[in-house]
Amino acid sequence: MTSTPLPGAPFLAYRDSQLFIEDMGLQDLANTHGTPLFVYSKAAMLHALAAYQRAFVGRDAKVHYAMKANSSLGVLQVFAQAGCGFDIVSAGELERVLAAGGQAADVIFSGVGKTRAEMRMALQAGIACFNVESEAELDVLNQVAVSLGKVAPVSIRVNPNVDPKTHPYISTGLKGNKFGIAHERTLQAYQHAAQLPGLKVVGIDCHIGSQITTSEPYLDALDKVLDLVEQIEKAGIRIHHLDFGGGLGINYNNDTPPAADSLWSALLARLDARGFGQRRLMIEPGRSLVGNAGVCLSEVQYLKPGEQKNFCIIDAAMNDLPRPAMYEAFHQIVPLVHTDKPAQLYDVVGPVCESGDWIGRDRLLNIQAGEKLAVLSAGAYCMSMASNYNTRGRAAELLVDGNQAHVIRQRETMADQLRGEVLPFPQTRHASNTPNTKV
Ligand code: LLP
Repeated sequence: MTSTPLPGAPFLAYRDSQLFIEDMGLQDLANTHGTPLFVYSKAAMLHALAAYQRAFVGRDAKVHYAMKANSSLGVLQVFAQAGCGFDIVSAGELERVLAAGGQAADVIFSGVGKTRAEMRMALQAGIACFNVESEAELDVLNQVAVSLGKVAPVSIRVNPNVDPKTHPYISTGLKGNKFGIAHERTLQAYQHAAQLPGLKVVGIDCHIGSQITTSEPYLDALDKVLDLVEQIEKAGIRIHHLDFGGGLGINYNNDTPPAADSLWSALLARLDARGFGQRRLMIEPGRSLVGNAGVCLSEVQYLKPGEQKNFCIIDAAMNDLPRPAMYEAFHQIVPLVHTDKPAQLYDVVGPVCESGDWIGRDRLLNIQAGEKLAVLSAGAYCMSMASNYNTRGRAAELLVDGNQAHVIRQRETMADQLRGEVLPFPQTRHASNTPNTKV
């Protein structure tokens, strides 16, 4: 058995030959609850959060969990009870925060395409801040706020034109991205916002991308944002808080991102050096809080040897685990029960009718049909991006807390999937509807 700790260790580890999450054997959980099955460790989430909290001791700082990473109510409840705020990108996400026991006053609202209806709902709920992404959005938000007799707290998302050196689909702070306002136009946008009666400028915001594994892009972005804050304040507009977004990467496979506390001690040192150490701070981490707190369990359906490749066909697919298909992302795949028999190379694939439905390529596995696997680092951007493609119901989810496993989402049923669909025409019977009719 490999001695390298798994992503998710120490909360995910083999005990003898059995894979455990906290004090629960995953083979038992898979047998009881079926597969595909997402299993999350509460302790791993709180451990990840603690690294940020350690960095911020003695500071006026708040972690707003970017819930798009995993928006299941049970996960949100863990973070709400741990004192987190939330970064949302839709009215639906706000409803989830409230349903999980979170407070609107701890919510910040990001995203390039907020609708008037979403703005109204967020204003009525009393969220902490709108992170505005364009000049046009400032005007619309102002109109909506005035029409409700309210004042919207705003922060402008700056695009600092910094390369986060990550996958192009998840880098957001470059000139060619749709996100934020170009830093050359930021002062003008703030001056415009400051004279609109329905808006109150409260902060500045920046998020440069996701799965970032070095500190430099953050330090570069921080310098650019602070240069802007100096300019904006010189023009008489006070910036009460600085929001540096999320984006810190996790270890999927020999990735070595900085730990949250060491990244933040470097950033705080820079903030202190530039005289902004006492300014209120907000951050919006998603993946780094949940990614390695979760696994997806799946059963091997068939082994299919081929001339060029051997396929290991499992019962989880791109609809459950979309990251490999979308970003060619790498997730480790390990057996739930380890043996020392010789392993073979497989492409691990799902049953969906697409060649893009692969979960891992060229993986050394010692596995038989009927045995079970864990796809690791599956806590972030898996269930929250899951779909019903191929009319596959979405998986069940468990939250493990020590030696307790709580079902936080039941497996989706066919009735769940068909709810809301309507047949447009009266049903008729005719020959071609009869199964097995020979013509
Ligand atoms: N704040 C904003 C404004 C964001 O757009 C995002 C992520 C975050 C915070 C949280 O970023 P994180 O800490 O999770 O990196 N589906 C992709 C990732 C998309 C990230 C979108 N925005 C993936 O599976 O890799």
